[in-house]
Formats: sequence, structure tokens, C-alpha cells
Amino acid sequence: MAEKWVTVAKEGYLEPGELMYVEVEDEPVVLINLDGELHALNDTCTHEDASLSDGTIVGDEIECPLHGGAFYIRTGEPASMPVVVKTEKYKVRTVNGEVQVSLSQE
Ligand code: FES
Repeated sequence: MAEKWVTVAKEGYLEPGELMYVEVEDEPVVLINLDGELHALNDTCTHEDASLSDGTIVGDEIECPLHGGAFYIRTGEPASMPVVVKTEKYKVRTVNGEVQVSLSQE
């Protein structure tokens, strides 16, 4: 199946250290600029029902606002309790000044 890329933002919209909530084909996604590199993770915490885009970037981790669990932004792997299940990590690219996300996993 061909990859489907969805435009979610203009290039440069997010500064390093910023994040935003976007939807890609009805999936909640958090788009994060980590040190100038864009990453997209599923926005729903795998612990309970919280939105990671309401959370905080701490180093190379995104901390959940509900119980303080965390995920590694570069991989989506759990970084601290009570998170034990990886969140989905999606592909991001920039084309003609537009940031695009594909729900195909990295
Ligand atoms: Fe995210 Fe509990 S809902 S750590």
C-alpha cells in the first residue's frame, strides 16, 4: 500500500523545544521539535487516557501530564513509570515548506 502523507504544519512553525497536537487521518498525534528535528508520536498515553501534547518535554523525553510517566521522543519507547508500553512513532518529512506525517510506523 502506498504511503499516505498528511500535511500538518508549515515548516518552521514549531521552534526547538515546542510541541503541538495534530490529527492525521483521525489519529491523535503529537508533533515535537526536539533540537531542530521533528518527531511524531501517537498523542494518547499508553498508560491511561491522557494527551501527551499537554505534557512537557524534559531532555529527550515527553512527560505525560497525568501521572508523570514518560516516553523517549526519538523512539516512542517507555522512559519512566508508570508507562510500560511503547507509543507509536510515525514518519515525518518536510516537502516544499510543509511538514507531513505518515501513519506508517518508523
Ligand atoms: Fe500517562 Fe498515566 S496516563 S502516565
